[in-house]
Amino acid sequence: MAIRRCRRAHRRRGVATTTQRNRRSGSISSPVVLPCRLGTRNAITEVHSLVETNHRIYASSIIPNKHYDSRPTATLVGDPRRTCLTAVVETFPAPTAPSADKLRGGYYTPPAVARFIAAWASAAGPRVLEPSCGDGAVLAMLAECLGGAGPASQAVGVELNPLEAAKAARHGLPVVTADFFAWFGGAHQGAFDAVVGNPPYIRFGSWTESTRARAFALMHEAGLQPSRLTNAWLPFTVAAVLALRPGGRVALVLPAELLQVGYAAQLRGFLVERLADLTIVSFRRLLFGGVLQEVVLLLGERGEGPARVRAVEYEDAAELPTSGRVADEAPPQPALRHDREKWTKYHLRPEQIEALRAIRTEGRAGLLGDVASVDVGVVSGRNSFFCLTPGQAQARGLGHLCVPLVARSAQLRGLRYTDEDLCKQAAEELRCLLLAVPEDLSPATDPALARYVALGEEEGVHRGYKCSIRRAWWSVPSVWRPDAFMLRQIHLGPRVVANLTAATSTDTVHRVRLHGEVTAEQLATAVTSSLTFAFSEVMGRSYGGGILELEPGEADALPLPDPRLVDAGTATTVDRLLREGDLDGAIDLVDARLLVAAMGFAPEQVALLRSVWRDLRERRARRSRRGPTATSPIQG
Ligand SMILES: C[S@@+](CC[C@H](N)C(=O)[O-])C[C@H]1O[C@@H](n2cnc3c(N)ncnc32)[C@H](O)[C@@H]1O
Repeated sequence: MAIRRCRRAHRRRGVATTTQRNRRSGSISSPVVLPCRLGTRNAITEVHSLVETNHRIYASSIIPNKHYDSRPTATLVGDPRRTCLTAVVETFPAPTAPSADKLRGGYYTPPAVARFIAAWASAAGPRVLEPSCGDGAVLAMLAECLGGAGPASQAVGVELNPLEAAKAARHGLPVVTADFFAWFGGAHQGAFDAVVGNPPYIRFGSWTESTRARAFALMHEAGLQPSRLTNAWLPFTVAAVLALRPGGRVALVLPAELLQVGYAAQLRGFLVERLADLTIVSFRRLLFGGVLQEVVLLLGERGEGPARVRAVEYEDAAELPTSGRVADEAPPQPALRHDREKWTKYHLRPEQIEALRAIRTEGRAGLLGDVASVDVGVVSGRNSFFCLTPGQAQARGLGHLCVPLVARSAQLRGLRYTDEDLCKQAAEELRCLLLAVPEDLSPATDPALARYVALGEEEGVHRGYKCSIRRAWWSVPSVWRPDAFMLRQIHLGPRVVANLTAATSTDTVHRVRLHGEVTAEQLATAVTSSLTFAFSEVMGRSYGGGILELEPGEADALPLPDPRLVDAGTATTVDRLLREGDLDGAIDLVDARLLVAAMGFAPEQVALLRSVWRDLRERRARRSRRGPTATSPIQG
């Protein structure tokens, strides 16, 4: 439940306050019950009790109506020394909407990085462009590097947001307030010694139509085909390269997706073609405080390709060389096939890259998609409304309309998901039920459903995008039982789990349908191999935060040992090892029995594949706040 404080609204509604009592009593540590009624947007909600401890007030057991038996909660709602108390309660909270800053990609560059890219790029000459200068973090450094902000510097910044542009202009360099793609025309192509900056990361759906149209036209002109997946940083990067004179330098802060996402493959090819030298600088720690976005620095020199590519890694921004020289000593990496291979491979040794390539060229492994197809889980439209605990379903009289559900990967512990697992989770009151109302069932014929639907409408659940486009907003489409589940978000390695229950899953977990040649347990066992684990690291994408994500298409394309070779004994042992938290033991067994004994892989080749998984997993795990600790029992 989301609770907001609002003094004025509170007074208007005449909600009970705690201020007077608190002034008298000071710090009270024993629970104090303050029966009161708080206003939601559309309805009155009862708060069962307010508990005050150590100058903090917690709302406990917020009861939206008397039929609803919420688990006792203790949610911080106020500080009695400073505030009158009010709480606006949302019973079915939606995920937090992105902030306006996020929508315009307004995350600014830390000073050490701004200084480094400004120094490195402006070494190429004084005509420098900052295409999305924000409040001028990079422009300020440029002014320093170019020896002051006098007209001789010939640097210019462009910024869409007038308030930010005004702040940027305070650094003395000229700033144009404009949509960069409207400003950037033929006259600017090839006109700069350097382009430097941190372009906005904005998803397709959040761009304005006119900016997107201009940006896409630029990409088309450069021979690239943008799509709905194209993020704003891609056309900014293309424009930055086109703005350079031969020998000019580009230095950009880009999301690490550059290295790994399929939709950036064309851009990777473009960069290798149009640059003579290209260095990717990555960091072992996340650069942007509070944002789980992993970034890299792209440093390039315009010239005839294919570029010599280098990859260097620093601990953090403080380790960046102050000389502006970077990677001179690092040898260029072996050429990758940019149309098919992700730049994640630049984090590998040449012999590891060769081991991965050999699998493909020798054709010794099939693909997961040969024996099964992977699909997303159910998109409910508002999990807090549609996913229920058994207690909630019972209290609301909705049990007859629910189906069992896997809503979190933590529910999947072994190789098999069984009725026993489901019962345990029900006893723990997890949200392991999905409200699955047939589209043709009218709430008018089912009083419990009618009450719940009405409550949802009071809370505006029906106005969420996914619900609003349904014929009957309360009826979740595409509820089917998969043969197996597959983790979408991975901590350690990919996992397929045979579904021995009637459960379906939400879209936090993929659903797998078998084609019929192999059983779910055979598939789940085969996936637990060094081969599949290694490829998942190069085929999936890791965002900052240490999680690897596999989309259905990527999962279908994962190589795996032949699942037909898995016998029942191996599957049972792997299930036990996984439940005991011994992932390495499970992989050792599958590698030995399938890859080496049955398929004839050399143990050294298997060891190289295992090292690919280990190195890339540890690399992404270092970016997690939690660090690279294994979880037990294994959750992937
Ligand atoms: C990630 S911030 C970076 C700001 C600055 N370059 C820095 O490194 O601190 C991106 C900036 O791009 C601006 N922006 C977004 N779309 C733009 C466009 N079409 N043209 C120019 N600027 C844009 C945003 O307003 C935001 O200030």
